[in-house]
Amino acid sequence: MLNVDKQCDTFLYRQVIDLITENMESGTLLPGDRLPSLRKMSRTAGVSIPTVRQAYVELERRRRVESRPQSGFYVRHLAANELVLPTRTTAARPAHLHCRSLMERVYDGINNPDLVPLGIANPSMAKSAAKTLHRAMKRVMARAEERSLGYASTLGEPSLRRQIAYHYLDTVGAQVEPDEICITNGGQEALLLALSSVASAGDVIAVETPTYHGMLELIDSLGMLAVEIETCPEEGVTLEQLERTFKKHPVKVCMFSTTLGNPLGVSLPDEERTRLVKLLEDYDVALVEDDVYGDLRFDGQRPMPVQFLGGKARILTCGSFSKTAASGYRIGWVVAGERIDEIARRKRAFSCSSGYLQQLTLADFLASGDYNRHLKSLRPVLKRNSERMQALVAEHFPSETRTSRPAGGSVLWLELPKMVDAEKLFDAAMAAGISIAPGHIFSPCACYLNFIRLSFGHPWTEKTEEAIKWLGQQVAKLAA
Ligand SMILES: Cc1ncc(COP(=O)(O)O)c(C=O)c1O
Repeated sequence: MLNVDKQCDTFLYRQVIDLITENMESGTLLPGDRLPSLRKMSRTAGVSIPTVRQAYVELERRRRVESRPQSGFYVRHLAANELVLPTRTTAARPAHLHCRSLMERVYDGINNPDLVPLGIANPSMAKSAAKTLHRAMKRVMARAEERSLGYASTLGEPSLRRQIAYHYLDTVGAQVEPDEICITNGGQEALLLALSSVASAGDVIAVETPTYHGMLELIDSLGMLAVEIETCPEEGVTLEQLERTFKKHPVKVCMFSTTLGNPLGVSLPDEERTRLVKLLEDYDVALVEDDVYGDLRFDGQRPMPVQFLGGKARILTCGSFSKTAASGYRIGWVVAGERIDEIARRKRAFSCSSGYLQQLTLADFLASGDYNRHLKSLRPVLKRNSERMQALVAEHFPSETRTSRPAGGSVLWLELPKMVDAEKLFDAAMAAGISIAPGHIFSPCACYLNFIRLSFGHPWTEKTEEAIKWLGQQVAKLAA
């Protein structure tokens, strides 16, 4: 039963992982069963003991098995609905985007205000900052009416850059110079400026899998290739696989959501952040760090962006006010360190500068303390929405459905029973007045065919509940 193929280009330890997982999925290995000892597995599979150990340790990190002192490794009992991401049987290769037309249809759903909005990640809507932002805008107009209608400078309004620098100091104790920050048209332009300053057409970009579809579209539109790096449902990107990918493919840049990534809603642990800095240095790879959800942890401390842990010269950090305050303002930023002149040149060439009135308004919003007060009230609403959504999914979806456990942000990632085609579900949902995001668009190779992402970043209403129940019934029908 247990044989690895030494000619195959998949790493041996990963083949061992696949063998064990296949046995778990077929029911040969059940929760509570002991895995074969390292020695025995090494003999039967024809690989070394360290290779088997590496596979077992990785399975433990993925929470599929647990080690018991002096006893060995055992198959873990999964909690109800606990998400386990699929392992791949073949190593990921750099790829172009496969599902452009589906992505366009998803955006049609997102942009249609008549649909129940479960397809868009827009947490700032869950508890609107409209009143306080309007007051801030009025104050700005009273103070600087003429000026606010003109062009902002290329790098952006100094008082806003200073407030962003102060926010990093205040929340994570990081020292950022306002002159290292460039204000952008939302997080998406921040990602564009950052990526295009460190990579060119034809370059290979490492992304987490699953990953934010906007990154994949950006990589594709710049003529670059994405290579997927496995993630763990609790801890984000797997650094072991990242290093192996560095050895195998000429990766130029990593583009990772290190904090509360979309769609998993989990963050890279502190010790992994430090390891990531070292890996980037060892292999001379740049990092475009997407930190747009950084302020939206449900509980506890905001994690430190990787840039501030070292390797500043090769890391660019992107932020945005879209997720926390006002997506329509289209204000984001890049913390670019030494690359700021290059970023400024690109900003000038691509869009000159960003909306001045919005920048002045946000500077006032932050300086008045209203931003922090707003975050304080937004986070518990998102947490509550997340709990409600998870409870409804557990109640109304087939029992094989598994869900992520987001630690913040506004989206839930669902694995549906294998035979459910998420695209069919998407079409049926759109016809029934509900927008969702099918799993296909979160991978360049259109995997995750039986996954969907649901958003809880909007005010919770009866319609939200009905939509989730309806989706559960449809999934049950498609699975039958
Ligand atoms: C992970 C991630 N990064 C970046 C963005 C883009 O942010 P913005 O709306 O500020 O352009 C989004 C928006 O959905 C996102 O989810």
